[in-house]
Amino acid sequence: MKIHGKDMRSLWYEEGRLVFIDQRKLPQELAFFEAADEYDVARAISDMVVRGAPAIGCAAAYGMALAEDTKGAAGLLKATRPTAHDLFHAVAYMQDAMAHGEDAVHAAHAYTESIIEKCRRIGEHGRKLIFRGMHILTHCNAGALATVDYGTALAPLRMAKDMDIFVWVDETRPRLQGLLTAWELEQEGISHAVIADNAAGYFMRAGDVDMVIVGADRIAENYDVANKIGTYEKAVVAKENGIPFYVAAPVSTFDRSIPSGDHIPIEERGKEELLSLYRYQPGKVRNPAFDVTPHEYITGIITEEGIIEPEG
Ligand code: MRU
Repeated sequence: MKIHGKDMRSLWYEEGRLVFIDQRKLPQELAFFEAADEYDVARAISDMVVRGAPAIGCAAAYGMALAEDTKGAAGLLKATRPTAHDLFHAVAYMQDAMAHGEDAVHAAHAYTESIIEKCRRIGEHGRKLIFRGMHILTHCNAGALATVDYGTALAPLRMAKDMDIFVWVDETRPRLQGLLTAWELEQEGISHAVIADNAAGYFMRAGDVDMVIVGADRIAENYDVANKIGTYEKAVVAKENGIPFYVAAPVSTFDRSIPSGDHIPIEERGKEELLSLYRYQPGKVRNPAFDVTPHEYITGIITEEGIIEPEG
């Protein structure tokens, strides 16, 4: 990804440490967080220094590589966030690589490079769906920040940036990951506007959205998709308005052990994420971080291997 015109990644390994762009501080400040061991990496994942399913997976791979007790590290890292399948996929990959005698840092590099390459290929496949002047809506941040580079939902947009496209960016309450998306699009020079989450239906009904593309945290065997809270209602409104709804995700996000979205564990985060914007304290709040979009609302899932049509 470009940051102030320079090529950068959202995390990288340097002299025995894992360095993250601290996503809690963006877009106001470009700051970094350094992890020296698996405990720091676990903290970075649970506190959302790093976020987005594929990036969480890469962080966990390096967390395993930085650990002395890899068995303990596997348990620690897997307990950080429950929904993103890439986390579990990456830990299993590292356990397998190490069991086969592979150098742990080398394995974490290989895992991360393969995720980056998968995202690049998602971009190539997804680009074919985009026509000149298209207006595309996205939810949350499924960009380079969320995947180390390129992104999933944002990869096709990066590759189509010379096609005069325009992106509607849902702000994505409560943590406002949409602002991370707006920041990435700004860096790439892609035209966009941030909208309140509840404005998406307004623009869809007005005929101002040609396609929706989102990322995914976990995809079940039947192609039901867990993604950031609010994704489901965007998919329903898109279908109601005849707008194609695409999900972009690497195969590492697919959980073949889960028959449908009903079995995907949904993370519930702390109430302070909502309360920070309130001037009073309601008695009770709920804060599910993800929802499930049933496969019948999904036009296609863009993977590195091509586009799957769940209803096809
Ligand atoms: O809670 P987050 O910010 O980790 O949630 C991220 C999302 O829901 C993304 O859309 C998803 O992980 C895909 S990222 C390529």
